[in-house]
Amino acid sequence: MRFIKALPLDALKPGQCRAVELEGGYGVALCNVEGEIFALDNTCPHAGGPLGEGTLRGDIVECPWHGWKFHVRTGQRVKNPSPEWTIPRYAVKVEDGMIQVSIPLSTPPDQGEASD
Ligand code: FES
Repeated sequence: MRFIKALPLDALKPGQCRAVELEGGYGVALCNVEGEIFALDNTCPHAGGPLGEGTLRGDIVECPWHGWKFHVRTGQRVKNPSPEWTIPRYAVKVEDGMIQVSIPLSTPPDQGEASD
């Protein structure tokens, strides 16, 4: 499992979420629930809103675009916890004051897209 540096821990206070783009183009939403850090895909499954810019209440993040709510521990939507609406989650560790996130190595998001 490969971990990528994401954000200094002191830049994410308890009760906050932040959107961070990792090396390789992964957009993750980092959320601090009373000192416990969670990483989710930053893209809301409804219409692509940036979950990391949402509002965190307890362990539930509310998307800033249309208000859908998701459990940060499971990625499941509060109202309809079906797999279709579940957000991918990533493993997190904190080392030397830096939040690090594990991303899947097999399916980079920029794979297949034109780049120059
Ligand atoms: S894009 Fe997130 S609730 Fe609509």
